[in-house]
Amino acid sequence: MITRKELIKKYIEFFKKHGHKEIPNSSLVPRDDPTVLFTTAGMHPLVPYLLGQKHPLGKKLVNVQGCIRTTDIDEVGDAYHHTFFEMLGYWSLGNYWKEEAIKNTFEFHTKILKIPLERYAVSCFVGDKDAPKDLESAKIWKSLGIPSERIAFLGKKDNWWGPAGNTGPCGPDTEQFYWAPKTSPPKKFNPEDKGWVEIGNDVLMQYVKDEKGNFKEAKQKNVDFGGGVERTVAILNGLEDDYLAEMWKPIIKEIEELSSKSYKGNEKAMRIIADHIKASVMIISDDVLPSNTGQGYVLRRLIRRAIRHGMRLNLKNFTSKIAKPVFKIYEDYSELKNNKKRILEILINEEEKFNKTIEKGLRIFEKKVTEWANSDKKKEKMLSGKDAFLLYQSYGFPLEMIEEEIKSLRKGLPLKVDVEGFKSELAKHQQLSKSTSSQKFKSGLADNSERTTKLHTATHLLNKALREVLNKDIKQKGSNITSERLRFDFNFPRKLTDEEKKKIENNVNEEISKNLSVTKEEMPLKKAINSGTQSEFGARYPEIVSVYTIGNLSKEICTGPHVKNTKEIGRFKILKEESVAAGIRRIKATVENN
Ligand code: ALA
Repeated sequence: MITRKELIKKYIEFFKKHGHKEIPNSSLVPRDDPTVLFTTAGMHPLVPYLLGQKHPLGKKLVNVQGCIRTTDIDEVGDAYHHTFFEMLGYWSLGNYWKEEAIKNTFEFHTKILKIPLERYAVSCFVGDKDAPKDLESAKIWKSLGIPSERIAFLGKKDNWWGPAGNTGPCGPDTEQFYWAPKTSPPKKFNPEDKGWVEIGNDVLMQYVKDEKGNFKEAKQKNVDFGGGVERTVAILNGLEDDYLAEMWKPIIKEIEELSSKSYKGNEKAMRIIADHIKASVMIISDDVLPSNTGQGYVLRRLIRRAIRHGMRLNLKNFTSKIAKPVFKIYEDYSELKNNKKRILEILINEEEKFNKTIEKGLRIFEKKVTEWANSDKKKEKMLSGKDAFLLYQSYGFPLEMIEEEIKSLRKGLPLKVDVEGFKSELAKHQQLSKSTSSQKFKSGLADNSERTTKLHTATHLLNKALREVLNKDIKQKGSNITSERLRFDFNFPRKLTDEEKKKIENNVNEEISKNLSVTKEEMPLKKAINSGTQSEFGARYPEIVSVYTIGNLSKEICTGPHVKNTKEIGRFKILKEESVAAGIRRIKATVENN
C-alpha cells in the first residue's frame, strides 16, 4: 500500500536530495498567460524560465501541480481519464541533461517506489526529418539494465512534446511504462498493449521550432518531467481502475449511498459525477464562478454535466453532498479549507439554476427526436443549429451535453447536431467568441511580445493608480494579458464613475511621462512582503521571488517581462470597467503609441 501523501512525500524528498528546490503548486488558472484557460501541466507556470529567464530558486526545481485538462472531457467515464489530476514534476532549466534526468527518474521508480525491473519498459523517439533517432536516451536506459526488447522507438505522435504554440522550445521525450495486470509481464514491450500503463514522461527540450518550421538546437536545453499521481497510486496498489484508489473512492461511496445504487454496473455515470464535481470544487477554489465565458463556462459545463448524469441515478440536489469528501481527500489544499462554505454555496446555486430548466429542456429534446424519427428523411436529418442554440440559450444545455443527449435518445439512428450551425448562431449572439472554445483549450506558451511587455508594466501602474484614486486597500484579484489588452481584477464594491476612470487614466499617463526606470531584484518572499511589496491576494509564490520596481512608485512581485523605462509604454487607455463577482471589479485597458 502507498497513499497519495506518501507518494508525494517520497517524490519531493528524493528530488530535493538530488539538489532540486521545491516550488509551490500554482493556481489552476494561469496568471498572465492568455493562451490557455487552465494549467494543464506542471511546466505551465514555468514557461518564462523554460525560455531562458532566470528562476529565483535556481536551475533545478520540483513540485506537485494540480492540473485541469478539458480536451478529452468526453473520455471521462473510463477508468483513467480525469479532468483534475495532480502531476509530479521536476525540471532542469539549462542545467543537467539526459543522463542525470533518466538516472534520477529510474532510481525514483525502481529504488524509491520499488517497481520491479520485470514490470518496467520505456519508449524513445524514433527519429524523422526534424531530429535524429534518440539513441542517446536508449543507451542510458540500457546502461541502467533495461533490455533492448523493453525499449520501443516511436514517432512524433507518441514521443515528442511541443512546441506548445506554433514556435518555441520542443523536443523528443522518453516515457516510462509499468505492466499493471496481475499476469506475468511479456518479455517484449508492445506499446499497443493496454497492460502497459504510462507512469512518467521526461521531455527533453532540445530544439526550438522557428516560423519557417525548422527545428534548431536550443540555446538552453531543459528537462521537463511529468508523472500522474492518481495513476501511480492506483497501479502501485494493484488497482486497474483509478476510481478505486483513495482520491476517488470516498466520492464514489457518497454517490452509492445517496443513490442507493452500486458502483458496479453504474461505473460510467458515477465516474463522470465524481470527476466533474471534484474538478468543479478545485476550479471554484481558485476563484472562478460559473458563467458563459472562459474558465467560468468550463466550470458551468462540468457542474451541469454532473447534474445530468446524476438524474440518470435519480439524484437531485446532490452536488454539494458529493463535494464534501473532496475537502477531506485534499486537506493539504489551504484554498479548499478556507473556502469550503463558499464553494458549496456556489455549487448549490448553480444546481438550483439548472434544475429550473433541465426538465423542460429534456422534454424539448424528446419532442425533436420524435419528430425526426417520424419523418421520412432520417438519414440526412440533423438537429438544426437554431434548435441546438435554443436548448443552449433558454435551457442552459452546453453543446457537448446536447450532443450526448441526442446520442442517447436517437437509439442508434444517425441523428446529429448541426455543430457549425450552432456555432454560427452562437457567434451571432456574441455569447462566446469562436476562438475561446477552440484554441484556448490547448496548452501554449505565454506571449513575450513587445506589446505584451508594455501592457505588463502598465498593469503595475494601474494597480498603483487604483490605490491612489479609489482607496489604499485595493488588491489585485487576478490579471490576464494578451497582446491586445490587459485585464485587471480588484476588490471594490461598486461601479466606477466616469470621473474616477479619467483620474485613473491620467494618473497612469502622468507616471509614464516621467520616464521612470524599471528594475528587477530577487529576494526572499518574506522580505518582499514585509517591505510592503504588492502581491496578488491568494496567489502562491515560491520562497524567493522577483520584485519589479518602477521609479520609487510601485513595487510588485512578478515574473515579468517588463519594459526598461516607462517611456516605452505609450498612452494608457481604459476600454471597459465591469463587475465580475460580488465586490470584484474588472478593468480592461490598452496602450497606444504616442
Ligand atoms: N509536460 C509534460 C507532460 O505534460 C511532462 O507530459
